[in-house]
Amino acid sequence: MLLEQLLVLLLVLVAHGDRYHPDIDLQFEAEEGTTRTNAVPLDVEYTAQYWYEEAHEAINKKEARFQGHGIARNVIMFLGDGMSVPTLAAARTLLGQRQGRTGEEAQLSFESFPTIGLSKTYCVNQQIADSACTATAYLCGVKNNYGTLGVTAAVPRHNCSASEDPANRLESIAAWALEKGKDIGIVTTTRITHASPAGAYARTANRNWEHDGNVRAAGFDPASCPDIANQLIHTLPGKAFKVILGGGRQNFLPNTVRDDENMLGLRTDQRNLIEEWQNDKSERNLSNAYIWNREQLMKNMESPPEYLLGLFEANHLQYNLEANKTTEPTLAELTEIAIRSLNRNEKGFFLFVEGGRIDHAHHANYPHLALDETIELSKAVERSMELLPEDDTLLVVTADHAHVMAFNGYRRRGGDIIGRSGSLDLNRVPYMTISYTNGPGARAQTEGLRPDVLDDDNYGSPRWRTHADVPLGSETHGGDDVAVFARGPHHHMFAGLYEQSQIPHLMAYAGCFDGAAETHKHCNANAAHSLGSPLLAVLLLAMISFACHT
Ligand SMILES: *[C@@H]1O[C@H](CO)[C@@H](O)[C@H](O)[C@H]1NC(C)=O
Ligand SMILES: *[C@@H]1O[C@H](CO)[C@@H](O)[C@H](O)[C@H]1NC(C)=O
Ligand SMILES: *[C@@H]1O[C@H](CO)[C@@H](O)[C@H](O)[C@H]1NC(C)=O
Ligand SMILES: [Zn+2]
Repeated sequence: MLLEQLLVLLLVLVAHGDRYHPDIDLQFEAEEGTTRTNAVPLDVEYTAQYWYEEAHEAINKKEARFQGHGIARNVIMFLGDGMSVPTLAAARTLLGQRQGRTGEEAQLSFESFPTIGLSKTYCVNQQIADSACTATAYLCGVKNNYGTLGVTAAVPRHNCSASEDPANRLESIAAWALEKGKDIGIVTTTRITHASPAGAYARTANRNWEHDGNVRAAGFDPASCPDIANQLIHTLPGKAFKVILGGGRQNFLPNTVRDDENMLGLRTDQRNLIEEWQNDKSERNLSNAYIWNREQLMKNMESPPEYLLGLFEANHLQYNLEANKTTEPTLAELTEIAIRSLNRNEKGFFLFVEGGRIDHAHHANYPHLALDETIELSKAVERSMELLPEDDTLLVVTADHAHVMAFNGYRRRGGDIIGRSGSLDLNRVPYMTISYTNGPGARAQTEGLRPDVLDDDNYGSPRWRTHADVPLGSETHGGDDVAVFARGPHHHMFAGLYEQSQIPHLMAYAGCFDGAAETHKHCNANAAHSLGSPLLAVLLLAMISFACHT
């Protein structure tokens, strides 16, 4: 009897695979018609030798790796806003599929970095973080409260007076680097006053106080709690930044003034902060330029002025897939001009580069846009790898927080990454390889059945929403750890699992501009070396003259 039951079970398993890991149903391939590539695995992948060779090649590369115990003259931090680990896996697959391959085996530029770690993204008062408290962690080195920037957790959100207490105010890594004579730049695809870049220069009890009208609307006086745009232009460290590139002109212009693309400003104090920035530099005889389109950017590429302010949109920059290529620079172009400008300083530089719209696309449940923006960040990192030597510049690539995008189902190798999963739901309705646990992509069921999203009119377009479980106006962040990739001097310090707030301390350690630099061996080694050189020269001279006289 028992044996019979076992036999039946065995037969079922043989027929269908086990119930946790079903055999992949290939019948959908023919129906689909949207497959990004027709690529199949390489013939060699069916041999053991291929994978052995792949591994040995990797070992050889690791052996030959740059060890990096010197001083990082330059530090560039790349931030993919909301760039979760599943986002990386899906984006590299899209990248490979665009190149006509199956995709899964592809590599984003920074995935070749020698060291990878994980950072914990929670904030002091919040299990799942926003971009303001995380920016404070990875740029100021301190965890604080959700929605606040550049201040400690002693400042509750919206509390203006607490944020003005000097004891609660933080200095960012940009200020630390500035103190050591380095040049600073910030680059983003969002408004330049948005939470992530603002972490480099602002201190505020509310990330939304981007222009003075927002401060007033909250019942506070901008004279005591200045808005974020004002802080960038008029206070340190922002006013000393050599390169400021992003979007958000509206926060710098009066609400009666139209910008270069005919959009009204938002400021109620009638101040034109773009002019004030220009005047501040010109009065001090510092070469400067304000630019607002790609053509102007390309004109300045070869020899940028000492100070460069570029605001390319009234609001955020356009999504790369939708951008007007005449007016809109790519993130790689923005990164390149920033490096060309800052690299003129012998003492080096700190640059912050954000791919900020990965987050926005995820919030809207637009997988295609989120993955494409991730690939754009990868290109920007690649450009910096081409322009800067590995032994001189520390590159760190990470995310502020995760999202709730899932990479799921049992799709065959090479299946369209923005396409359907390899199986059907219990009611035989298709579901997608990329979906979300919540967000605006949630659809009502009809008679207990999920709608077939493959029938959507805009399926396949950049703004097609994949499906989500919990209906929300905006998809939420995730609480999972995010990856940290490092290349350059002291890259190995970024291995392991650690608090996100350690990141700027690690970067400044590598560059010998943290508070404890004199206690670090590699910082002193260099000092000894520069002292040692003249001694060595004298010694050599003595030896030569000794040799000549005998
Ligand atoms: C603001 O924070 C301070 C502590 O710094 C506290 O005394 C005050 O009550 C808070 N104000 C509000 C409105 O919460
Ligand atoms: C700026 O340059 C002009 C002309 O080159 C010179 O007359 C003026 O004194 C300079 N001002 C400052 C503050 O250096
Ligand atoms: C791009 O922007 C330029 C300048 O505003 C405009 O003339 C052109 O029509 C735009 N192109 C597209 C495709 O919208
Ligand atoms: Zn977000």
